[in-house]
Amino acid sequence: MLFASAENFERARVLRAEIERLNHHYYVLDAPLLPDAEYDRLFRELQALESAYPELQQIDSPTQRVGGKVLSAFSAVRHAVPMLSIRTETDTEASGALAFDARVRRELKLGESDPPLEYLAELKFDGLAINLRYESGLLVCATTRGDGESGEDVTANVRTVKQIPLRLLAKAPPAVLEVRGEIFMKLEDFRRFNKRALAAGEKTLVNPRNGAAGSIRQLDSKIAAGRPLSFFAYGLGEVHGWTIPETQAELLQALSAFGLPVCEERDVLAGGHALAEFHARIAARRSTLPFAIDGVVYKLNRRDLQEKLGFVSREPRWAVAHKYPAEEAVTRLLGIEVQVGRTGVLTPVARLEPVFVGGVTVTNATLHNQDEIDRKDVRIGDWVVVRRAGDVIPEVVAPVLDRRTSEVQKFNLLSAFPQCPVCASHVVRGQDEAAARCSGGLFCPAQRKQALLHFASRRAIDIEGLGDKLVDQLVDAHIVRTPADLYKLGLMALANLERMGEKSAANLLDAIARSRQTSLPRFIYALGIRNVGETTAKDLARYYGSLEDLLAADETSLMQVPDVGPIVARSILDFCSEAHNRQVIEELQAAGVTWPEHAPQRAPAGKFAGKTFVLTGTLPELSREEAKGLIEAEGGKVSGSVSKKTDFVIAGAEAGSKLEKALSLEIAVLDEAGLREMLEKGIVE
Ligand code: IVH
Repeated sequence: MLFASAENFERARVLRAEIERLNHHYYVLDAPLLPDAEYDRLFRELQALESAYPELQQIDSPTQRVGGKVLSAFSAVRHAVPMLSIRTETDTEASGALAFDARVRRELKLGESDPPLEYLAELKFDGLAINLRYESGLLVCATTRGDGESGEDVTANVRTVKQIPLRLLAKAPPAVLEVRGEIFMKLEDFRRFNKRALAAGEKTLVNPRNGAAGSIRQLDSKIAAGRPLSFFAYGLGEVHGWTIPETQAELLQALSAFGLPVCEERDVLAGGHALAEFHARIAARRSTLPFAIDGVVYKLNRRDLQEKLGFVSREPRWAVAHKYPAEEAVTRLLGIEVQVGRTGVLTPVARLEPVFVGGVTVTNATLHNQDEIDRKDVRIGDWVVVRRAGDVIPEVVAPVLDRRTSEVQKFNLLSAFPQCPVCASHVVRGQDEAAARCSGGLFCPAQRKQALLHFASRRAIDIEGLGDKLVDQLVDAHIVRTPADLYKLGLMALANLERMGEKSAANLLDAIARSRQTSLPRFIYALGIRNVGETTAKDLARYYGSLEDLLAADETSLMQVPDVGPIVARSILDFCSEAHNRQVIEELQAAGVTWPEHAPQRAPAGKFAGKTFVLTGTLPELSREEAKGLIEAEGGKVSGSVSKKTDFVIAGAEAGSKLEKALSLEIAVLDEAGLREMLEKGIVE
């Protein structure tokens, strides 16, 4: 058995101090000093030393932050100084701040002519209150608030919170310093944690506050160590051997100098109006803060005045919490309806017993999609947590499981809504898709505007001047329902629309008339079939040569078309199986929309048949469109992104990441001259 040398002791001491200094910069100051790998190296060196010489192990070593101790229960700890709560100003309006200021002035017997009082305005963090006890600078105990008189000893878990120093940064630390503050989970950490838990099939956290409270109350501190927690200090408990600063503002500075995290979002303010402004200013930024708050806290800044005011029934007279409307509330899920979006997606919407949340009465909330309903296991009749933060659409977060009765009913979107509630077309859900969709396409009023805009767009049928304002007017006035209706428009109907003179009406009619003469690929693309973009439309037109043959194709046939897989084939079949869609096509043809027909081209033809190109950067002569046209005319395909399947990358000036990717995949890269040469002579392999 070897004993540690004086050098070992010294090295361990240096490593502990250095690692904790790095932790402080990383977790508290948000300014890492070293790359992660360097940090890891130091950490492992310390771990190795401690395991070789157990006598080097110390309670304040950063290696002790990983957790490990499993408790059967938390022991109770009596607070040396009771942990008080804080009175809540019930009036959430600005007047709440004014009322507090007026009350404090009255209690201090100040008159109107006395100068305004100074306050420290802080945020009210939405987490879990904790008392940290440091003796001679060493963290010896961490307790929850409990009933205010005594709390639970959660030291093992709190040690795993890297923002909390295990030893205070001070040459001569106080004999006893109890720091009070809030443990919480940042929103970003909460989301990341849930994303990972979801991917691993583990239980997710309901909200950041439960996440923080639940982690600190884990009996296995290894679990707590895996939870990303943060901390802000805001007050004191028992203190010995330290002169407490004279104001709350200076106290927070002193705590920060000890290495404790303190929220930057705080302000020394004079008078009630300034407090009300602070309340409003923070309210406006509430939804952009990186953590949840449920209000702000005003504290009389001067300690001597605080002491003069004292306490009433376990609450200080010198501080108040001025809240914001709660962002979460519990209510009853009465039923589930669906909403059809502009692209045909059916979104399940919860019908709720009205509840006041986030400052408004909410009766509906989104449930996103079937997968989310299943994941959260939300059932009709459940009591549910509803959340509305800022201007965000209210959502159902989770059911309250201990209030569930046997009367609840599971919901399945496809069985509840086999047909679109707007147009009665079939509702379908692709194999790898979260969304269920209405297959009504052009026919579904919910999708009509979007479909019309797509139909008229430049790369589709190309009706110049038919923009979204006009489409809105035409659809809202029931003048146009389907693209076929566009060809029935008359001058009078158009000229009567708002902001539309006779001249522009005539221009639009001209553009519509011109669009009658089109091409088969454009026509197919214009139909707006899901998953059928421009390139697929071209492939389909080339393969079938006529619309009739495309409409008559079955799955086996469609799968023969180059680059058409099961998903695209399914979309085409779904579209064609709707009688309304076929009717619109017939009407369009009857209205005179035509295109030249070609013999089907089944075998790839042209010099570039079967080859895939990617264009990047600016070519000297050819525009992107021209180059694409030339390649396609030779049977080549132009794709938007570089992959292993890419055969050639044509690069011009300022080519960026696509060129890099091509080089890394060792794909042939040519310039415009190289492309022209291949167009002339064909590909020389
Ligand atoms: S001071 C004597 N400041 O709100 C005053 N509390 O009932 C003690 N809280 O459970 C509290 N942010 O956990 C104070 N900036 C802040 C706070 C804050 C959140 C919590 C605290 C306590 C509750 C007040």
